[in-house]
Order: sequence, then C-alpha cells, then structure tokens
Amino acid sequence: MTDIRRIGLLTGGGDAPGLNAVIRAVTKSAILQYGWAVTGFRNGFEGCITGEAEELGLHSVQGILPRGGTILGASNRCNPFSYRNIAAGDTAPRDHSDDVVRRFSDLGIDAVVVIGGDGTMSISHELSRKGVQVIGIPKTIDNDVRGTKVTFGFDTAVSTATWAIDKLHTTAESHHRVMIVELMGRTAGWIALYAGVAGGADIVLIPELPFHLDAVRDKIQRRARHGSNFTIIAVAEGAQTASGQAIYQQIGEKWYEKRYGGIAAWLEHELSERLDQEVRSVVLGHLQRGGEPTARDRALGTMMGSFAVDLLGSGETDRMVAISRDPMGQSSTDMTSVPMVVATRGPRHVPLSHPLIRSARMMDICIGDSPVDVSNQKL
Ligand code: F6P
Repeated sequence: MTDIRRIGLLTGGGDAPGLNAVIRAVTKSAILQYGWAVTGFRNGFEGCITGEAEELGLHSVQGILPRGGTILGASNRCNPFSYRNIAAGDTAPRDHSDDVVRRFSDLGIDAVVVIGGDGTMSISHELSRKGVQVIGIPKTIDNDVRGTKVTFGFDTAVSTATWAIDKLHTTAESHHRVMIVELMGRTAGWIALYAGVAGGADIVLIPELPFHLDAVRDKIQRRARHGSNFTIIAVAEGAQTASGQAIYQQIGEKWYEKRYGGIAAWLEHELSERLDQEVRSVVLGHLQRGGEPTARDRALGTMMGSFAVDLLGSGETDRMVAISRDPMGQSSTDMTSVPMVVATRGPRHVPLSHPLIRSARMMDICIGDSPVDVSNQKL
C-alpha cells in the first residue's frame, strides 16, 4: 500500500440528495485529519476519462451542505469498461479502464472515494482489481444497495413523497376521487412503502408484492361503503400485478434499455373501468431526487464521508461503507464496511417480513393481497 498524499473523489450514477454533504465530509476529513489533497472528478467516471477534474479545497465545499444535486456533476451513462469517448474518435464502446488508472497515476492520486449505487460499486470493484485503492459510499434514493441497511438520499425522497401524498389527500377528499401517485424505486418498494405508510395512503403497491386488481377495487369500494368517498394509492414504479409485468416507458429511448414509468396511468385506466368513482393519477418523478437534503441525509452523508476517509487511512480498499442496522437506531457502532462486491449482487428488496408490511396489514392498508389472502392472514 502506498502512503496517501492525494485522493480522488467522484459521484457515479444519478444524483441523490445528500451528495454534497458527502463531498464536503470527505474533503474536509481528508484535508483536516490526514493532510491529504483532494481531486474531484466531473460527471462521475466520465471525468476520469476526459480529464475534467478540479482541486477541492476547504473553500470549494463551503456552503454546500444544504444544497441538492452534486457540485461535481453526475453521469449515469459512463462505464469506463465499455465507453464511447466521442472526443477520442471512438465509433463504438471500448474499454477505457486503463486510461482511468493512468489518469489517477498522472494526477498523483493514490486512492479514490466513489459515491454511487450498485453500478458504481461494480465498476469500482473491477478498478480495484487493476490495483486502484478504492472505497465506496452507497448512494441512491431507492435504498436498494445490497450490503447496507440504508443509503443516503432515501430519507429525503421519502419526505418529499410523503409531502406529496399529504397534498393529494386534501384534493382527493374534496373531489371524492381515487388519486394514484407513482413513486420511484426501480425494482424495490422502499420509497412507496415508507412514504405510503407515513402519508396515510389507503393502498400501497410495491414490486415485492405483486398485486391483485380485485383487491384494490374491493378496498376502494369498502371505503366508499363506510363513508370515505376518496382513496389514496401509493404505487412503486416497478409494481406489477400477480399475472402481469412491470411497465416501462415506450419512447424509443436511446440511452437506456428500459425506463420505468406508466404503472399509475395503467392503474387509473383499469380502475376507472371497474369503479363508478373518478380516478386520477400523478407521477412524482424527479421531484424525489431534487431539492435540499433532510437533516437525516445530511448527517448520514457526513458520517459516511468521514468513515470512508478513515477506511482509506487504515489501509482498506475494495470496501463499501455500510450501515449495519435499520435506519431508526443509528449509533457509531452501526457504521461498518462490507466487501464492495456485495453491492454488485443485485438490488436489495423489501423483505416480506419487514415490520412496515406487517404494520400496514394491521392498519388495514391494502397492499394488493387477494381478498382471500387478507382474510386468512396469520400475523
Ligand atoms: O435509481 C434512482 C432512480 O431515481 C430510480 O428510482 C429511477 O427509476 C431512475 O433513477 C431514474 O433515472 P433517470 O433519471 O436516469 O431517468
């Protein structure tokens, strides 16, 4: 292991609230506690290929703690192992990983902190096999990175989604409507489950529990019979019926193979056919990723950033910062690290034994179970 004098820092994948808190914590901890210099790469791994990088000093990170987004820029389309560098004349994607390793060496970078989700961890794990000393920090609003019980960004997304559900309540009640809100999360239902319960949604649909349309319709009708002439449905973008499949946007998208979107509109159509009540839908979309981070995400991001620097300081590499217990009970002992490869083993889904699922059932929140399942529930 080389003595560290300079570290690199980058934010891979899409943005998430709290990124700037992490950048600030890594930069300040590295400079103030270890005397290391910090180089920030622009737009994730893209900056490592193109050379867009900047010195991060104490002044660079001043005042950024409450700001959303990332001061370094983000790109969720750059994998250096398969990247088309148009400026370099690439006509097809090719392996630029050696260019990245060379870039680090040319800039005198001895170790790197990467902030990202499973894709970023996978790239970083491969770079570590090429000799790069690297520590990862898990980031995503989806909360689905394997190896950690929580990612920063999730709390802010849940707060925003809860705020949206609160607002839908008042208009739904006034117009006696069924209002459906589509929430992010890809194949995981963390945001929909937490915000749905926190916002008092009557129906919460998540990918982990394929739903039955009849159960959803029955719940709405039951509410109406009991005098509640409105219903709120929180649906995760990756939710699907027991016999169906997830819905993607069909837009001839050139960047992605698949982009989630459309389940709320589909539900609106299907329920409208089955109900006398008016049904409307809304997609909350990137509002969940934008804006200022909650206090919790700022604190979590700060802890994770400092811890990553300490891991590098103690000679660790190819590991990811992790929280070992559920988010409610953070203490210093909850902060740990796991081999980075753990994060690459697929998304972390909501376990069906999760206390919020049990609680939802006990509160008579419909989570899409068939009526038979509900009446036979063994809690
Ligand atoms: O992974 C975070 C996330 O916001 C998902 O919840 C969502 O499906 C996806 O990113 C959207 O990505 P993009 O902004 O690239 O369309």
